[in-house]
Amino acid sequence: MSRKRILTIGRTGQVAQALASAAASRPDMDIVCLGRPDIDLGDPESLRAAITRYRPDLILNTGAYTNVDGAESEPEEAMRLNRDGPAHLAKIAAAEGCALVQLSTDCVFDGVLERAYRPGDPTFPLSIYGQSKLAGEEAVRVGLERHLIVRVTWIFSALGSNFVTKMLELAGKHDTLRVVSDQCGCPTYAPDLADGLLAMSLAALEPGFENWGTYHLAGTESLSRHHMAVAIIEESLRAGGPGAEVLPISTENFAAPARRPLNARLDSSRTEQVFSVRIEDWRKSLTRCVHELVMGETCR
Ligand SMILES: NC(=O)c1ccc[n+]([C@@H]2O[C@H](COP(=O)([O-])OP(=O)(O)OC[C@H]3O[C@@H](n4cnc5c(N)ncnc54)[C@H](OP(=O)(O)O)[C@@H]3O)[C@@H](O)[C@H]2O)c1
Repeated sequence: MSRKRILTIGRTGQVAQALASAAASRPDMDIVCLGRPDIDLGDPESLRAAITRYRPDLILNTGAYTNVDGAESEPEEAMRLNRDGPAHLAKIAAAEGCALVQLSTDCVFDGVLERAYRPGDPTFPLSIYGQSKLAGEEAVRVGLERHLIVRVTWIFSALGSNFVTKMLELAGKHDTLRVVSDQCGCPTYAPDLADGLLAMSLAALEPGFENWGTYHLAGTESLSRHHMAVAIIEESLRAGGPGAEVLPISTENFAAPARRPLNARLDSSRTEQVFSVRIEDWRKSLTRCVHELVMGETCR
């Protein structure tokens, strides 16, 4: 069995860190994670230098402008990283003969559908962030045949800034939290996502693989932000962490610069059919994540 070489764009992000730990003990791959300042997604020369140096079989791009609200006031930077970055990567990958896995988002959809979104459903982003990520998807489709675009959503982990860390932080400061109850999605634990992405990457590198294209990879259960916040606080109290009352509010009453899809649910069944990859039991992963965070807090 030959070890596959995977180059991950992004180093300190939650998915990049989860990929690095998931790959560390695997005998079938070598992974290198590169982030700023070594490379810049908006600078094709820095990307080309890294790719010709590491000669990966596959590039896994976790890097992005990820501040959904910030993108509304910094559209050029969002486009530079989320549209132009994947375009550069696709072009260089095509020239160097490697495959590309590009992470995308539920924010390419408008969220009006009454069921979970499938990869072929029509896109209609509501925000600059969503537009920039969709433009990145399109650039990859045009620039490189051997690509997987993997849309992900509602990622949480103990490694970065996300909904779980935010709720715990707020519960440490306030007695009452108001959380939107009309946005629903599929919570996805970054380490579970990383295992799935690596399995998909290795399968795509098998000789004769032909199922290139767009996929969804998210937790199989869906719930509202409010219900997720209630679960986070329950776990926090069990672990000896902060507690708070969690009250439901509607998105209409929660001012944010960027509009988000009310329905952010992703249907990952095509991914399961093609790659036999499925992410389940987010609640067990939540317990692990909150305990890690609360114990970390206690130790500090
Ligand atoms: N988090 C979610 O819930 C969510 C939902 C839907 C889609 N996604 C997508 O999933 C992917 C990973 O998200 P995440 O949660 O891991 O994001 P994150 O924690 O915010 O990390 C962002 C990553 O982007 C990299 N990056 C930022 N600017 C860069 C630049 N100029 N050049 C190169 N790299 C740069 C950072 O690299 P450094 O290592 O240099 O800091 C970091 O590793 C992104 O494509 C995001 O759009 C995330």
